[in-house]
Amino acid sequence: MKELTITIPIKAWGNDELNNNDASLIAKAREATSRAYVPYSKFHVGAAILLDNGEIITGANQENAAYPSGTCAERTACYYAHATYPDAAFDTIAIAATGTDGKEVEYPIPPCGACRQALVEYEKLAGHPVRVLLAGRDVVYELPSVKSLLPLTFDSF
Ligand code: THU
Repeated sequence: MKELTITIPIKAWGNDELNNNDASLIAKAREATSRAYVPYSKFHVGAAILLDNGEIITGANQENAAYPSGTCAERTACYYAHATYPDAAFDTIAIAATGTDGKEVEYPIPPCGACRQALVEYEKLAGHPVRVLLAGRDVVYELPSVKSLLPLTFDSF
């Protein structure tokens, strides 16, 4: 028997320490939270994806009376991005959230498992790591890749 350990490198930035590009991508994710349609959870999530053609695509969670039919912000954004620019590789995704109190969450919200699985496929298509920025009120976590959030990845293709 061998014991394997997986570690995830996370950089924790203060909002005032970010470079301009990352700060503006996060600002777009924060703005996108206002376009969430969340009558059921009242939890607004926004995502902004920087593509290698320089375009930034945003998405927000969209809920539905038939609850499982709703979509998270990350999948709204990644499907919209690839449906709009199928030849552009993802470079970075930023994710932000506003809690039910109407304020930005104190600590970053990591993407759910289904979104990690969706995003990792676009990372594979990109052929290089896609950075992940998770924004909170006082701290931003930077992960080097989607795969770092989904280390034992199912990949059938
Ligand atoms: N949500 C996201 O948009 N992204 C995630 O990664 C986790 C959860 C949404 C789904 C639902 O509309 C609301 O947040 C509450 O779960």
